[in-house]
Amino acid sequence: MYPTTRLRRLRYNPLIREMIKETHLHKTDLIYPLFVVPGKNIKKEVKSMPGVFQMSIDILVEECKEIFQLGIPAVILFGIPEHKDETGSEAYSPDGIIQQAIRSIKLSIKDLVVITDVCLCEYTSHGHCGILKGEEILNDETVSVLAKEAVSHAEAGADIIAPSDMMDGRVWAIRKALDYKGFTNIPIMSYAVKYASGYYGPFRDAAESAPSFGDRKSHQMDIANSEEALREAESDIEEGADIIMVKPAGAYLDVIRRIKDKFGMPMAAYQVSGEYAMIKAAAQNGWIDEKRIMIESLISIKRAGADLILTYYAKEAAKLL
Ligand code: PBG
Ligand code: ZN
Repeated sequence: MYPTTRLRRLRYNPLIREMIKETHLHKTDLIYPLFVVPGKNIKKEVKSMPGVFQMSIDILVEECKEIFQLGIPAVILFGIPEHKDETGSEAYSPDGIIQQAIRSIKLSIKDLVVITDVCLCEYTSHGHCGILKGEEILNDETVSVLAKEAVSHAEAGADIIAPSDMMDGRVWAIRKALDYKGFTNIPIMSYAVKYASGYYGPFRDAAESAPSFGDRKSHQMDIANSEEALREAESDIEEGADIIMVKPAGAYLDVIRRIKDKFGMPMAAYQVSGEYAMIKAAAQNGWIDEKRIMIESLISIKRAGADLILTYYAKEAAKLL
């Protein structure tokens, strides 16, 4: 109690402040998202995400060298295929854009951890995350295609599989398919708690994956729910997920904390495109200090309980750390 207790005592000296700091951000916490497009020598900036580019594989490989040299251990790949169709068949083609990208990256930077996003929305002509019957996204039919996609990523050399579709039972199906093909040691990082969020807007420009009708509310979670988030996390853990992800991050810090407290699993959080775009836009207007806000947002995500952060700021953050 005051005056014996004075909380300011430990705040005067900058070194003492460092000594009692509770949360640390490390380069090894960061995962950098990358968008791969067909072609050669392509590096096209995403309009709503300054500093983020769609890249052809040749450029992507150079980018990965730089990322690894910066001390970032992992990337997550999103592919824009040559051809989209009703069932998203390029998602599991051995010569699909992601499969080619993985092989090329592994040829030149073999230690970089390559994570692949497993979903169908980038590959379907209608932009939905699964197989449609009329306007309904069929769960079980979609899950079998996702399992094929996951296996083909592993066969191409992916290190971690990250299903982002939010179908029921997909972690179990992917685990079973990977194990059957001998990939028993490939971890699954599941987008266990993924909200139907407005913050994904800029990503859909980057991945050219906006749904042509309707929305994603029949599979992604209601933004108002956090009890349900615990059930989502629990079911993915039971199905064999190794790392649990919450997405978006900044507006869902309470959810990250609840899941960390309840399950104590390795956790990732995705600072999504809209979170990045908002900080960038304010910074470009000179309204905020970009570096400070970037670090503050990332530290907050870790303080909430995330071990890993997927962020478009990974390179800029790594340069500061
Ligand atoms: C696709 C996927 C999305 C994101 C990651 N994987 C978009 C969506 O669900 O519409 C969003 C990432 C971001 O906004 O940065 N399954
Ligand atoms: Zn999707």
